[in-house]
Amino acid sequence: MKTGALFNAMIIGGILLSAGNSMAGDNKGAESIVLNGGSLGSVTFTHGIHQGMFADCKPCHELFPKESQVVDKMKAEGKLQRRDVMNMCKKCHKDLADKGKKTGPTNCKDCHKK
Ligand code: HEC
Ligand code: HEC
Ligand code: HEC
Repeated sequence: MKTGALFNAMIIGGILLSAGNSMAGDNKGAESIVLNGGSLGSVTFTHGIHQGMFADCKPCHELFPKESQVVDKMKAEGKLQRRDVMNMCKKCHKDLADKGKKTGPTNCKDCHKK
C-alpha cells in the first residue's frame, strides 16, 4: 500500500510538472504541419486549431515530443509503429462523433491528400 501511494504521488507530481511546462512562453510550433502519410498521400494537420481545443498539449505530445519531423524519426527508429499517431488522431475523432460532438474526419481521404 505504502509504495502504491508513493507511486501515485509521483505520477500526480509528474502530471503537474508537465502541465506547468506547457504554460505560456512555450514554443507552440507551426500553425499547420504536413505529416508524411505514406502511399495514401500527405496529411495536412491544423496544429494551431487543435491546440486551441484542449487545455494542454496532451494527448498528442504524450505519444511524441514537441519536435519537428519527430513522428517520422520515431517510426524509423521503431519507437512508434506505423499508424500509431494516425490511430490516436482517429480515436479522438471517433470518440467525439460517438458522443454527438463536433469532430474531425475518420475517412481516409478526408485526411490523406495526394
Ligand atoms: C492534436 C495533436 C496535438 C496537440 C494537441 C498539440 N500538438 Fe504539437 N505537434 C503535433 C504534431 C502531429 C506535430 C508534428 C510532429 C512531426 O512533425 O513529426 C507537432 C509538433 C510540435 C512542435 C514542433 C515544431 C513544429 O511546428 O513542428 C512543437 C514545438 C509543438 N508541437 C508544440 C505544441 C504545444 C506547445 C502544444 C500545446 C499547447 C501542442 N503542440 C499540442 C500534434 C499536436
Ligand atoms: C484523422 C486523419 C487520418 C485518417 C482519417 C486516416 N489517416 Fe492514415 N495517417 C494519418 C497520419 C497523421 C499518418 C502519419 C502518422 C502515422 O503513421 O501514424 C498516417 C499514416 C498512414 C499510412 C502510412 C503508414 C506508414 O508509415 O507507412 C497509411 C498507409 C495510412 N495512413 C492509411 C490510411 C487508411 C487506409 C485510412 C482509412 C481507413 C487512413 N489512413 C485514415 C492520418 C489519418
Ligand atoms: C483529442 C481529440 C483530437 C485529436 C487527438 C486530434 N483531433 Fe483532429 N479534430 C478534433 C476536433 C474536435 C475537430 C473539429 C474541429 C472543428 O471543426 O472545430 C478536429 C478536426 C480535424 C480536421 C478537420 C478540420 C481541421 O481543423 O483541419 C482534421 C483534418 C484533423 N482534425 C486531423 C487530425 C490529425 C491528423 C490528428 C492527429 C495528428 C488529429 N486531428 C488529432 C479533435 C482531435
